[in-house]
Amino acid sequence: MTDRYAVIGHPISHSKSPHIHKLFAEQTGEDISYVAIEAPLDGFAETVKRLRLEGYKGCNVTVPFKFEAFELAERRSERAQTAQAVNTLKFDRDIFGDNTDGAGLVRDIEKNLGKNLEGKRVLLMGAGGASYGVALPLLQTHCMLTVANRTVEKAIRLASAFQGVQASNYADLAGRQFDVIINATSSGLTDDLPPLPQGVFADGALAYDMMYGKETPFMSLARANGATVADGLGMLIEQAAEAFYIWRGVRPDTRPVIETLRS
Ligand code: ATR
Repeated sequence: MTDRYAVIGHPISHSKSPHIHKLFAEQTGEDISYVAIEAPLDGFAETVKRLRLEGYKGCNVTVPFKFEAFELAERRSERAQTAQAVNTLKFDRDIFGDNTDGAGLVRDIEKNLGKNLEGKRVLLMGAGGASYGVALPLLQTHCMLTVANRTVEKAIRLASAFQGVQASNYADLAGRQFDVIINATSSGLTDDLPPLPQGVFADGALAYDMMYGKETPFMSLARANGATVADGLGMLIEQAAEAFYIWRGVRPDTRPVIETLRS
């Protein structure tokens, strides 16, 4: 029998996850189906309950339900616990919650983009849910992590939750340089740019925007400063591969899938 999976969000119509998991299933020969489901804003828990009753084996969770998914999980991985958010649920006898976003980001940077993070000066911009989701896997690479946020109190709060993170506002970054700068703010949605001081891109820096599908002002700035620029499509596919592995115990080869989605 085909095992069923889904991604739940609101809105969800533009999700690439069904396409990605279809390609993973074809490649690995795993007999699964995967659909996108839009839950009402007040109906996430109900939707999960229904899927379980219908025999689904698990689901991915996206905006705005990752915190509710965290609450709903009866067991959680360490990375879900530290992120305080869940993007992957596995239905067994109980509901297991994991968060594959940070692992997806790190795999994209280290494996696909070939940038080893150990010992590197990494700047994470933003201190919202997206940053909490990736902070622990970033730290586990043994990079030197600074988190900058417009509202500096939120950066300080994030830093206090993770040992070894330095908090900053944007102005205080003046005179410092970073090997990797990651945009985890929502500024790209409104074509805005975090107020980065001049000169923060080190020689050969990688600028990573967790958004995909458009050139953000951050990407343009990074290009103008000679940085290598990446969008979040690779992270999206890597976090999906990690979820697929949690459910199926099989790790898909992401490279051909990244190539297909880029073309
Ligand atoms: P998410 O869950 O996607 O991280 P969020 O919790 O609303 O969303 O957080 C959005 C993040 O983007 C915040 O860090 C926010 O900074 P503030 O906390 O100071 O509001 C950041 N952000 C949004 N627009 C920004 C902009 N134009 N410049 C800099 N940071 C911005």
